[in-house]
Amino acid sequence: MGYNSPKGGLIKRYLSGFKSFRLSAFMVIMIATLSPAMICAGDNDECLDCHTNPEKLKVTEKTEIDPITGEIEVIPLVIDEAAFKKSAHGGEDFYCVDCHSELEDADLSEGHKPNLKPVDCITFCHDDPAEEFLKSSHVKLMKEKNKDVPTCKDCHTGVRYEDSGIVVKSPMNVPRADDPSHRRFTIESCGSCHEDYFSSYRNNAHGQVTALGHTTTDVPVCFDCHGKHTILNSSDPESKVGKEKILETCGECHANAHESFVMHVEHPQIKNIGYYRNLLAAIKNARNDPENLKNMLKNPQTILCVVFVMYIGILAFTFSSFGLHSLLTWFATVRDECGRKGHDEEHH
Ligand code: HEC
Ligand code: HEC
Ligand code: HEC
Ligand code: HEC
Ligand code: HEC
Ligand code: HEC
Repeated sequence: MGYNSPKGGLIKRYLSGFKSFRLSAFMVIMIATLSPAMICAGDNDECLDCHTNPEKLKVTEKTEIDPITGEIEVIPLVIDEAAFKKSAHGGEDFYCVDCHSELEDADLSEGHKPNLKPVDCITFCHDDPAEEFLKSSHVKLMKEKNKDVPTCKDCHTGVRYEDSGIVVKSPMNVPRADDPSHRRFTIESCGSCHEDYFSSYRNNAHGQVTALGHTTTDVPVCFDCHGKHTILNSSDPESKVGKEKILETCGECHANAHESFVMHVEHPQIKNIGYYRNLLAAIKNARNDPENLKNMLKNPQTILCVVFVMYIGILAFTFSSFGLHSLLTWFATVRDECGRKGHDEEHH
C-alpha cells in the first residue's frame, strides 16, 4: 500500500480531522474558561489603569515638535475613556495594542518606552481605503499642484473633552460616519484647500443649514455629493456629481429630483474672476474651438453669471443716474441761490 493510496489518505484525513477536532475542542474549552470579557478587559485595563490616572502617570502631557511644520504639539497622556468608547474603535473587540502595536507583549509594570511610533492605520487594517484614496485622481491632482495630501488622521480625527470642558481634536477617537462633529470637520478639511468652493457652498441652501450647526446626515456636506476617497471631476462619467449620477446623488434626499432640479448651481461662480476670464477666452477662441464655447454657454453657471452681471449693471446704472441726477439738482440749486443773492444785492 503506497503512502499516497486513497485508503491511507483517508485514514490520515480522519486522523488529522481528529487532531484538529481535539485542537478545536481544546480552544473552545480555553475560550469558555477565559471569557471574552476577561481577555478584553484584562488587556485594556492595564493601559487604562495608568492612562486615566494622573497620579500613576506622574506626567499628564508631553510636548513634541512636528518634524515637518516645526510646530510644538502638546500630547495629553490622560485618555478620555468615554470619548474613546463612543468612537469607531471603542467597541469590545478592540485592544489598545491593536493600534499601539509596539507595546504588544511589553512589560508594563514600570510603564513603557517613550516616543512610540505613530499609529499605522493602513498596513494591517485599512489598506482598501488607502488604495482607493492614494490612487484617486484627487490625490494625483494634489501632487501635481504640489499640495500636501491630507492623511487618514487629518480627515478622520475626533474629539476629546478636557476637564475644563474644552473640546480638543484627537486622532485617536476616530468618529463614526454619522457623527455630526466628524461631518463638520470634513467640511473644514475640504474647505481648507478649496476656499472658493467652500465659500460658494456656504452661500447656498445646504451650506447655510450646516453653518447653523445642523451637520446630521440629512443635510449634505462635501463628501455626500463628491464621495469620500475617490473624488473625481464632475466631467468624469464616474463622478457622483457628473451628468450620469447626479440624479441619484440628489435623489437620496430630494425624492422628486428631476432633470431641471439638478440644474441647480451648487457652487455659484458669480464672484470668481477666473470664470469670467475663461468665458472671455472661450468667446475669443470660438473659431478654433466652438465646442468649448457651446459647452460653456450651456452651463447654468454662465447663465447665472450673465444674470449677475446684468443685475450689477442695472444697480450701477440706477445708482449712477440717481447720483448724477442729485448732483445736477444740487448744481442747479447752487446756481439759483447765487443768482438770487446777486439779484438781492443789486436791490440794496
Ligand atoms: C505605568 C504607567 C503606564 C502604563 C501601564 C502604560 N503607559 Fe503609556 N505612557 C505612560 C507615560 C508616563 C507616557 C509618557 C512617556 C513619554 O514621555 O513618551 C506614556 C505615553 C504613551 C503614549 C504616547 C507616546 C507618544 O510618544 O506619543 C501612548 C500611545 C501610550 N502611552 C500607550 C499606552 C498603551 C497602549 C498602554 C498599554 C499597553 C500603556 N500606554 C500603558 C505611562 C504608562
Ligand atoms: C484605532 C486605533 C487606536 C486604538 C484602539 C487606541 N489608540 Fe491610542 N492613539 C491612536 C492614534 C491614531 C493616536 C494619535 C497619535 C498617533 O497618531 O500615533 C493615539 C494616541 C494615544 C495617546 C497619546 C495621546 C493623544 O491623544 O495623542 C495615548 C496615551 C493613547 N493613544 C493611549 C491609548 C490607550 C490606553 C488605548 C486603549 C484604551 C488606545 N490608545 C487605543 C489610535 C488608537
Ligand atoms: C480627504 C479626507 C479623507 C482622507 C484623507 C481619508 N478619508 Fe477615509 N473617509 C472620508 C470620508 C468623508 C468618509 C465617509 C464618512 C465616514 O465613513 O467616516 C470616509 C470613510 C472611511 C472609512 C469607512 C468605511 C468606508 O470606506 O466607507 C474608512 C475605514 C476610512 N475612511 C479609512 C481611511 C484611511 C485608512 C485613510 C488613509 C489612507 C483615509 N480614510 C483617508 C474622508 C477621508
Ligand atoms: C490638501 C488639500 C486638499 C484637501 C484637504 C482636499 N482637496 Fe480636493 N483638491 C485639491 C487639489 C490641489 C486639487 C487639484 C485641482 C485644484 O487645484 O482644484 C483638488 C481637486 C478636487 C476636485 C476635482 C477638481 C478638478 O479640478 O478636477 C474635487 C471635486 C475636490 N478636490 C473635492 C474635495 C473634497 C470634497 C474634499 C474633502 C473630502 C477635498 N477635495 C479635500 C486639494 C485638496
Ligand atoms: C449638494 C451637493 C454638493 C455639495 C454639498 C458640495 N458640492 Fe462641490 N460640486 C457639486 C456639483 C454638482 C459640482 C459640479 C458643478 C459645479 O461646478 O457647480 C461641484 C463642483 C465642485 C468642484 C469643482 C470640480 C468639479 O468637480 O467640477 C469642487 C472643487 C467642489 N465642488 C468642492 C466642494 C467642496 C470643498 C464642498 C464642501 C465645502 C462641496 N464641493 C460641496 C455638488 C456639491
Ligand atoms: C443629504 C441630503 C441632501 C442631498 C444629497 C442634497 N440635498 Fe438639497 N437640500 C437638503 C436640505 C436638508 C435642504 C434644506 C431644506 C430646505 O430648505 O427645505 C436642501 C435644499 C436644497 C435646495 C433649496 C431649495 C429648497 O427646497 O429649499 C436646492 C435647490 C437643493 N437642495 C438642491 C439640491 C441638489 C441639486 C442636490 C444634488 C447635487 C442636492 N440638493 C442634494 C438635503 C440634501
